Amino acid sequence: MDRIRLVGGNQLRGEIPISGAKNAALPLMIASLLTQEPLVLENVPRLADVNQLEKILENHGVDIAVHGRRPGTPGSRFDGQRMTLQAADIVDTTAPYELVSTMRASFWVIGPLLARAHEARVSLPGGCAIGTRPVDFFLYGLKQLGAEIDIDDGYVVARAPKGGLIGGLVHLPKVSVGATHTIMMAATLARGTTVIENAAMEPEIDNVAHCLVAMGASISGIGTRTLTIEGVPSLHGATIEVIPDRIEAGTFAMAAAMTGGDVLLRHARPEHLQSALDVLGQAGATIASEAGGIRVKRNGNGLQSVDVEVDTFPGFATDLQAQFMALMTMANGVSHIRETIFENRFMHVAELARFGADIRVEGQVATVTGVPALKGAQVMATDLRASVSLVIAGLAARGETVVNRIYHLDRGFERLEDKLSRCGAEIERVTG
Ligand code: UD1
Repeated sequence: MDRIRLVGGNQLRGEIPISGAKNAALPLMIASLLTQEPLVLENVPRLADVNQLEKILENHGVDIAVHGRRPGTPGSRFDGQRMTLQAADIVDTTAPYELVSTMRASFWVIGPLLARAHEARVSLPGGCAIGTRPVDFFLYGLKQLGAEIDIDDGYVVARAPKGGLIGGLVHLPKVSVGATHTIMMAATLARGTTVIENAAMEPEIDNVAHCLVAMGASISGIGTRTLTIEGVPSLHGATIEVIPDRIEAGTFAMAAAMTGGDVLLRHARPEHLQSALDVLGQAGATIASEAGGIRVKRNGNGLQSVDVEVDTFPGFATDLQAQFMALMTMANGVSHIRETIFENRFMHVAELARFGADIRVEGQVATVTGVPALKGAQVMATDLRASVSLVIAGLAARGETVVNRIYHLDRGFERLEDKLSRCGAEIERVTG
């Protein structure tokens, strides 16, 4: 099994190219199920989750071709891929347990399958390391569009009324990214108007909404808490670019703040991670927006502790909570970090303690008391974002760190070790 070995202490200096967003690429790929024409995605990141979703979509009958970067254009090996997906026919409306259980977002195929093929049989995604993550909002939303839903042998079996889904009012009890993507996609082909209230406003939702509009859907309220979708009889092909990954950008911003130095996060968009940048500023980093991205610097002075409460967009992202905690382990003073989205997202605490961090957890609040130095350690990745927090800690720790079980990292970070070593980090992947 691959591991990451790093020796901490080097400042990060240089440029890091930010890849396309995993959390946008996945639902954009799923949107291909809504039309028989080709959907072309630009700037698709090279990630294990993308490869896994390809398999799942191929099982439904989607033909997928990956072309690397646009032919004839100059570029680097970090440029995103171009992917063409064509679902000429939906050959299978079942998403089996073996495939869905490996990636929760694959459950989202239920929306487009139901809208286009009028039926879907999708395995319940099952447990997940960061909490129970139920699907009740999805089922409620699809029922509001007229679907009949049964649970049978671990599968959600959904059927649209004769003639297809019917627009309706969906008031989400809590903001949910996945439920918003799924209901929005399903509503594009429903008869009549759907209103989604308390919708997620994450930039990835906007990316997918704009893609659906380019495919012929009628959606208003994009970027707000209320989305109104007028159903159309069919959608057509389109070309759309995956937005830069704000979580990857935020992660490298924290790494730069942790080690000191000066890093340009190329392609990163400040408006997608303003809350995190504000917090980093309060902690003592210097942040500047430039034409090519975001520059993060920290010279000389130490970090100050800052309290953070995670929230849905535009608040501080839960997907940056673990990385921020790593940063606070070496800050001056005491920081309180409140997780509000997932009930069990503090598994990195025990691993960070192996570096000598001082963290106490009570309920949903972690209290981090900064220590003058961390010491390198053998640690284990537990989930995607938690694992990268261990890399951040290792970059600042004295001596050698080995991060085991890094398949979690490969799910969501493209060539992390490559990107960091180009900026002066002593980091390598050890295979086998
Ligand atoms: C997405 C992101 C994930 C991010 C999360 C929150 C992708 C692929 N994943 O996950 O990286 O951490 O948003 O920003 O984009 N909930 C229910 N019932 C439901 C659905 C959700 O109770 O039917 C709860 C969840 O348990 C959680 C909260 O709602 O407490 C938000 O979850 P949600 O926004 O749906 O997360 P995901 O879409 O799974």
